[in-house]
Amino acid sequence: MKAMMTKEMTLHDFFLHELGDAYDCETQLTHALADMSAAATSPELKKALAMHLTETKAQVVHLDQVFDELGIKAKGKHCAGMAGIIEEGKDALNGIQPASVLDAAIVTIAHRAEHYEIAMYRSLITIGDTLGLSQPVTTLKMILKQEEAADAMLTSLGVGINKKAFAETPVHA
Ligand SMILES: [Fe+2]
Repeated sequence: MKAMMTKEMTLHDFFLHELGDAYDCETQLTHALADMSAAATSPELKKALAMHLTETKAQVVHLDQVFDELGIKAKGKHCAGMAGIIEEGKDALNGIQPASVLDAAIVTIAHRAEHYEIAMYRSLITIGDTLGLSQPVTTLKMILKQEEAADAMLTSLGVGINKKAFAETPVHA
């Protein structure tokens, strides 16, 4: 555990800190979504993850633009939270059989990642609004809409995927 260190910062500094965190999150997710899409066996899930991967790559570019608008060079700050979600996910990807239960696990991992992002963007939007950063907030709201849509898609896909997994793995006595 690191020693406690206080750090003076303005709310604007904190906004930039969180923006750097978001930038790193999205970059990490481009790799993780590619892995999850490759590992998924349900064609619908594979397609949904691949589609969100395309969106995620564009989100990195949008975040670049937000940094630009703020007159700052885009810089990621390692996001340990997302790294943890992905790390746990890797254990599942490498260790779960049969394929139907693996798909159910992938939906769960992707859901966790999306909820993490949704919390992150909602906070960024609220702080950005307070700071009067209207252009960055507009971009962040657009990204948030994509995350919410991805989350909703996972929820509806998950129903069928879980049913299939349950049918293939009846409960043991
Ligand atoms: Fe994202």
